[in-house]
Amino acid sequence: MNTLIAASVLSADFSRLGAELSRLKSADLIHLDLMDGHFVPNLSFGYPLVSCIRGLTEQPLDAHLMVTNPETYVDNLAAIGVSWISFHQETVYHSHRLIQQIKAHGIKAGIALNPATPINTLDSILPDLDYVLVMSVNPGYSAQAFIPSAIAKIKELDRIRKNQSLDFLIEVDGGVNGDNSTALREAKADILVSASYIFGSKDYDKSIITLRGEINVR
Ligand code: DX5
Ligand code: ZN
Repeated sequence: MNTLIAASVLSADFSRLGAELSRLKSADLIHLDLMDGHFVPNLSFGYPLVSCIRGLTEQPLDAHLMVTNPETYVDNLAAIGVSWISFHQETVYHSHRLIQQIKAHGIKAGIALNPATPINTLDSILPDLDYVLVMSVNPGYSAQAFIPSAIAKIKELDRIRKNQSLDFLIEVDGGVNGDNSTALREAKADILVSASYIFGSKDYDKSIITLRGEINVR
């Protein structure tokens, strides 16, 4: 499978979101970071903006819930039309139930692991997951430095899925850039999330192509 690139709009210029989204056509997914000021020390955006983005692009929306009580968000996000939803392991008592709630809408379900959260917290739920989101920064902000231990975590997840013949995808989020993307692809990350590397560049398409490891022939 080709590496997928998820462009996180957290670093976009929200005053001209339509223009920003029109420059992300090479991205495979649009990553939406929902923050509630409780689970993470920051607020981002909610349903009105997600609806607005849904109307501005046909690309699949990948919602990353950095919120407490994530189960209260799922039905609303499904109604808006997101295609992927991940939540953090620490925010729920009943992750199996929440995975089923997400999947019942036909949405891909993932669990996010903070840098300090070990993989073995997912042992019993891995067969039910469509993807695991490996955080390579502490969640809450874009433009933080990549935490290198994420690479070992991705390799270990890949080893587990091969050994157990599982088919979950591995997504990595935080500090992803042109310097670490090759190592992340080699570690077998399937989806690379990026905000500041893409939006801080002049040519978004070129940055996306670089992250994907394709040669830029334009
Ligand atoms: C961080 C978010 C990320 C963030 C990534 O809490 O989950 O998706 O937007 O930003 P960069 O790519 O700048 O680290
Ligand atoms: Zn994110």
